[in-house]
Amino acid sequence: MAFHFKRAARENVSLLIGLAGGTGSGKTYTAMRLASGISAGKPFAVIDTEAGRAKHYGDQFAFDHGDLKPPFRPDAYADAIKAADEAGYPVIVVDSVSHVWAGDGGCLDWQDDELDRMAGDDWKKREACRMAAWIKPKMGHKSMVQKLLQVRAHLILCFRAEPKIEMVRGKDGKMEVIAKQSLTGLDGWIPVCEKNLPFELTISFLLMAQNPGIPHPIKLQEQHRALFPLNKLINEESGKRLAAWASGATKPAAADSTQPPEAASPESERRPSAAVTYITPNEAIALETWATSLGAVRKFKRDFQVEMFSHITVARHDEAKKWLAAAQDIVKGAV
Ligand SMILES: Nc1ncnc2c1ncn2[C@@H]1O[C@H](COP(=O)(O)OP(=O)(O)O)[C@@H](O)[C@H]1O
Ligand SMILES: [Mg+2]
Repeated sequence: MAFHFKRAARENVSLLIGLAGGTGSGKTYTAMRLASGISAGKPFAVIDTEAGRAKHYGDQFAFDHGDLKPPFRPDAYADAIKAADEAGYPVIVVDSVSHVWAGDGGCLDWQDDELDRMAGDDWKKREACRMAAWIKPKMGHKSMVQKLLQVRAHLILCFRAEPKIEMVRGKDGKMEVIAKQSLTGLDGWIPVCEKNLPFELTISFLLMAQNPGIPHPIKLQEQHRALFPLNKLINEESGKRLAAWASGATKPAAADSTQPPEAASPESERRPSAAVTYITPNEAIALETWATSLGAVRKFKRDFQVEMFSHITVARHDEAKKWLAAAQDIVKGAV
C-alpha cells in the first residue's frame, strides 16, 4: 500500500501544563490565571483533591469545581478528567495530581495493599513480592496517562514538589550534600509523581513560596519562552497567547510590551530584567550537570550571583563555561 506524506502544520494541540511547588508557591492561583486566559473567560473545570481548597478562589475566577476524594486511584482521576472533558470544558485544572502517586489510596498505597494481599505479615515473602506488587499500580497509572493524553481539553496539572538532596564527592575528595539533580525538577525541588509523567508535559514550571507565581522553567521550549518572562508573575495573558499558539497560530506573540508589568515581589525585583535573553533550558541543564560533576554548584551560583542556572544570560554563557573549565582544571590537578 502506498504511504503518503503531507506537509506538517501544527493544528489544535492540546496543552499539558505542569505547575510544581511547595505549599504557598502559587500552584492553584497560577493554574487559575492560566486557565482563565486559555479559556478566554469561559468557565473551566477544577478537579480538587485538596479538600475543597480551590474553592477559596471561587470569587476571583469563573470555574466549576469538583471534589475528588480518597482513595486516589488512577481510575478515579481518569474518570473525573473524562467527565470534565465530555462536559465540554475548554480547560481542566487538576489540583493536585500528586495524590494519585503519594496520596491516600494512590499508587504507593496500592503497591502496599498488593503486598498485604500477596504476602501478609511474612516479611521475607514481602521482600520477594516487591516487584510483582508494582504490576497493578503501574499498569493502572499507565492507563490513566494514556487517557489523559487523549483529552481534547487543555490540562493544567498541579504537582506538590519536595526539596531533595544527594551526596556527591567534592573537589577536595570529601563527600558533600547538594540539591538533587533531576530532569523533572529544578534546584533540588522534585515533583511528587510517577517518574515518567513529567516527560509528557508540554511546559512545566517550578514555583517557589518566596515569590509565588514567578516561573522557574523546568521545561520551556524556545517557542514558548516569550510568553513567560522570568521575572513576571504568570498571568492570564500568558494563557491567552498559549491558547493562540495551540490553536495553530504560526508564532506565539511576544509578551506585550505595552502591558503594564505585574507587581513583582521584592525577590523578583532583584532578578535580571525581562529584556535580557537567557540561555536555553538544555544549556542550563548542561551547565548544572557540569558544575555538579565538579561539586561546584553552590560556588558557581555565588560567583555568578544567580539563584538558578537558568538565570545565566546568553551574554554570560561563555564566561560560565570558562569558569567551569577552569574549575575542572583545578579539580583534575588535585587528583
Ligand atoms: N500567578 C500569580 N499571580 C499573582 N499572585 C499569585 C500568583 N500565584 C500565587 N499568587 C499569590 O500567592 C498566594 C498563594 O498561592 P496558592 O496558589 O494558593 O499556593 P499553592 O496552591 O501552591 O499552595 C495566592 O493567594 C496569591 O496571593
Ligand atoms: Mg493549592
